[in-house]
Amino acid sequence: MRTLVGYATAKGSTRGIAERIAAALEQAGHTADLKNLASADTVREYDVLVVGSAIHNGQWLPGAADALDRLGPDLAGRTVWAFSVSSVGATSSLLSPRVARYLRRVTPEPQAMQTLRSAADVRRHRFFAGTISPGDWPGIGRVVFRLMGGHYGHARDWTDIDGWVAAVAAGSEDDAG
Ligand SMILES: Cc1cc2nc3c(=O)[nH]c(=O)nc-3n(C[C@H](O)[C@H](O)[C@H](O)COP(=O)(O)O)c2cc1C
Repeated sequence: MRTLVGYATAKGSTRGIAERIAAALEQAGHTADLKNLASADTVREYDVLVVGSAIHNGQWLPGAADALDRLGPDLAGRTVWAFSVSSVGATSSLLSPRVARYLRRVTPEPQAMQTLRSAADVRRHRFFAGTISPGDWPGIGRVVFRLMGGHYGHARDWTDIDGWVAAVAAGSEDDAG
């Protein structure tokens, strides 16, 4: 199976996750091309798309959202797995455990997921926690981050990410029959 692992990142942690996903898919016998979504003009040559973006203000980065609009017709009927990288992942978080539990309950999917779901065959979307460094949040954002028990550093849960990729690899093989 030929797979595109497309990502959008501001500070690099989403790219790191995309690299891990591409490497794991290659190990599982897929051909996986890693690309910044901003430079993806077509996806016609791929059987499966794995796409993900960093979250800013609750949404995928503009470069990722623009790419989905641009690729719209190519997405029709295609198998897509999606991930979002934010302060709070399904199994780990940059915020306090209590705040993370609350946010997991109330945070809606980014709008880009609606675009994807209306165009393509989306299998699963998962949130992963990323990385934050002092200075990444401007002004008031930094204060809110601290009030929510935020800690700087990385909170990527590689075990969770690896488990999700294993599901991608297995799901794609099922599709291939
Ligand atoms: C300007 C800005 C806005 C952000 N907005 C959110 C947000 O709304 N929700 C959230 O959970 N995390 C938010 N974050 C945290 C990022 O999603 C997190 O740091 C992620 O790992 C960034 O990925 P990247 O390193 O690939 O850019 C924000 C970070 C920045 C710098």
